[in-house]
Amino acid sequence: MNKPEINYPSTNLANNALIPKPMKVIATNSAFGLDSKTAIFTNQTATGFEAVGQYLAEKINGQTNIVVPVNISSEEAVERIIFIEKSDALESTSPEAYQLYIKNDSIVLNARSAAGAFRGIQTLRQLIPETANDTLAEQPMWLIPTGKITDAPNFSYRGAMLDVARHFFTVEEVKKYIDLLAYYKYNVFHMHLSDDQGWRIEIKSWPKLTEVGAQTEVGGGAGGFYTQEEFKDLVAYAAERHIEIIPEIDMPGHTNAASLSYPFLNGNGKKLSVYTGTNVGFSTFDANKDEVYAFLDDVIREIAAISPSPYFHIGGDESHATKKRDYINFIQKVEPLVKKHGKTMVGWNEIAQANIDSSTVVHLWNEPHNALKAAENGSKVILSPASKAYLDMQYDTESIHGLHWAAYIPVPDAYNWNPETFVDGLPKESILGIEAPLWSETISNSAELEYLAFPRAIGYAELGWTAASQRNWEDYSKRLVQQVPFLKRHDVNFYRSKAVDWE
Ligand code: ACM
Repeated sequence: MNKPEINYPSTNLANNALIPKPMKVIATNSAFGLDSKTAIFTNQTATGFEAVGQYLAEKINGQTNIVVPVNISSEEAVERIIFIEKSDALESTSPEAYQLYIKNDSIVLNARSAAGAFRGIQTLRQLIPETANDTLAEQPMWLIPTGKITDAPNFSYRGAMLDVARHFFTVEEVKKYIDLLAYYKYNVFHMHLSDDQGWRIEIKSWPKLTEVGAQTEVGGGAGGFYTQEEFKDLVAYAAERHIEIIPEIDMPGHTNAASLSYPFLNGNGKKLSVYTGTNVGFSTFDANKDEVYAFLDDVIREIAAISPSPYFHIGGDESHATKKRDYINFIQKVEPLVKKHGKTMVGWNEIAQANIDSSTVVHLWNEPHNALKAAENGSKVILSPASKAYLDMQYDTESIHGLHWAAYIPVPDAYNWNPETFVDGLPKESILGIEAPLWSETISNSAELEYLAFPRAIGYAELGWTAASQRNWEDYSKRLVQQVPFLKRHDVNFYRSKAVDWE
């Protein structure tokens, strides 16, 4: 059998291809041999650690076919151990901090919480080479470079959004995206669940929302929706990956599908019809009707009951058909409804025109002045500037999907900006983190989604996790190239940007 030190360039941990780039890496220039004599042992009292060990074993098996037992009682055949431990003795106070010590015969992952352990095992997964040292050997071994990694995220909120309203995406398609996001340490998945073209979540007290409002999408396709059971399944699936799902019901604009289902909601005075185009700004709820707020009370209550996230996103963008006075009144009436159901309100930057509570979170997409206004009022801000972070913006004029109303965003441009300085005068303490939204006017399946999201979503992962002082395009693009085996293995239809030397 080959000696671990021979023939494998990555025995130097410092030359790793990790994304997001960790805070600190010290290489010790040897290797841990992952093979069928390896076992995982985890903390068994703290919540979630054993599940993290099981997830790692499952992913190792998926890549290498070897079966790595978790917390077995007999250690007979075990020669090497991966320990996943709870520790409060980490430098960073982040619940997602972790420390990885890789030695010849053991790997010790220390984390404050299961979320930190989960982030740590993504690092470990990324260190497992694509091929074994000798595939013909009876006991093939995957050589993991030794050393120590100390890591913690720069931002506590690292999100991706998917618009399942313009085009519907199935539970399986959403799960595949969540799996890919988890590998790059995302922790939030924001679902844009309603828009003019479709309503995508079952509301038991208002069944026509899905009987009528879910039956269309952009281009006239069949649409679709998630039952509450399916939504709960998605929430649980994401939670196993330590990703929180934030539901969004967009209002008072972007509401044609809801008003089509229940015409009393409509406030634009026009005749309602199915909408399958891509214009915005023509629909509005009637902000002056008590029945509208009674309806919203039910909708928010039902979703809040199946959504463990502390946040509820009310959209609030592009309500061009709502009078300003009505818009402000509407936001100020919906905010207490969200609070009543135990959630913190999030809304796109327009909501800062209203007198919102300092606990409400403002989601910047196009109005830095409203993000600043909100921050001055004590609100936290999520950064998704359309010209930098919108995954649906085309790469260039030749892109086969996407739009370009905000910008063309080539792969280097998606990476080369600093969320901490993007809004002049916005203090870092006011920034919750960043999010990469993917609007779906031009995409309707996983392959199209992946064409726009990858590789840019990988760069946004690093913008959210890694401090600006540690980021550098040249270095990043080399690490990005090394994601290709992973992307291919998972059948990800990533865009081969000419700005990257794919080899
Ligand atoms: C948005 O792009 N209308 C938030």
